[in-house]
Amino acid sequence: MRTALVTGSAGFIGSFVCARLLAEGYRVVGLDAMTDYYDVALKERRLENLSRSNHFRSIKGYVETPGLLAALFEEEAPEVVIHLAAQAGVRYSIENPRSYLDSNIVGTFELLEAARAHPPQHLLLASTSSAFGANTEMPYRETDKADHQMSFYAATKKATENMAHSYAHLFDLPITMFRFFTVYGPWGRPDMALFKFTKAILEGRPIDVYNHGDMKRDFTYVEDLVEAIYLLIAVPPVRPATADAIPAGDSLSPVAPWRIVNIGNSDAVQLTEFIAAIEEATGKPAQRNLLPMQAGDVPATWADAELLRTLTGYKPQTGVREGVAKFVEWYRAHYGV
Ligand SMILES: NC(=O)c1ccc[n+]([C@@H]2O[C@H](COP(=O)([O-])OP(=O)(O)OC[C@H]3O[C@@H](n4cnc5c(N)ncnc54)[C@H](O)[C@@H]3O)[C@@H](O)[C@H]2O)c1
Repeated sequence: MRTALVTGSAGFIGSFVCARLLAEGYRVVGLDAMTDYYDVALKERRLENLSRSNHFRSIKGYVETPGLLAALFEEEAPEVVIHLAAQAGVRYSIENPRSYLDSNIVGTFELLEAARAHPPQHLLLASTSSAFGANTEMPYRETDKADHQMSFYAATKKATENMAHSYAHLFDLPITMFRFFTVYGPWGRPDMALFKFTKAILEGRPIDVYNHGDMKRDFTYVEDLVEAIYLLIAVPPVRPATADAIPAGDSLSPVAPWRIVNIGNSDAVQLTEFIAAIEEATGKPAQRNLLPMQAGDVPATWADAELLRTLTGYKPQTGVREGVAKFVEWYRAHYGV
């Protein structure tokens, strides 16, 4: 049995990744600090589902605790490591930047040190579409320069990409960096728009719509994201013999077994269309509280997903009407409303 270590295992994406790996016959070790950034009961419920499998081991701890990951790598010798634990959220990083520094930067440093001492076959780390920052050229390509992050959250994630690159180069660690594009679906995060909008609409309260609704997002359905992650496990980057050996459009480093891969639908959906999908799924009209753009946010994201397709043959395709309907169905059943 292959062992996978998943950090952030009680999180939205992490719980789906763990479930998929268990279904594929992996033994899964999950690490999560169960932070109270949002409702801990939701994280506990996700873990309860995973704990039905005898092949799931759950550990509570902070990734940045010195030596914790190194000891876990030594004990478990995971072949695959998927690092999702992080302080997420653009807006909260204005209020509490230190938690991003600790969880994202120091936490990733601890992970890289552990991998240096006990190298896995493939290390896969979550970055974000926010790393593209102020870029205006769309769709976003992994090979585009991305130097102007708009929030401290994005800055910490971009920093982890660079940190990982240096470790991949120096210690020959195969590393894939994911840039996820607005992930949504059942069991989704209470701090994200879909959850907040659905809750408010069902309770008859207005929703806060930023930039007066003139926003576009490349929304990625969680099951599609997990399919992409699962397929990418089998494609560890290989250090190229020469820079000329790198195919056009591949973000592979010229000096390290390291690449960045966008995971998105490659479809920029208007926020108004997204809200309409929630209205349709809930059967209730939204009352809109139109507000200016929020600090740290970007008006649009749109993934070029060609590299993912080239590497795996897969392209995410669930549309927002279908994906939102699945979320609303889950929300109503879960909260009994
Ligand atoms: N959901 C999205 O749209 C999205 C988009 C881009 C990138 N990402 C990234 O994907 C990853 C997973 O995101 P998610 O949406 O599942 O978020 P999430 O908050 O649901 O999951 C993160 C999990 O990590 C845990 N955690 C936080 N800090 C920790 C620490 N210091 N040590 C150990 N555990 C800690 C939390 O308790 C949580 O369960 C994150 O790295 C996030 O930045 C998510």
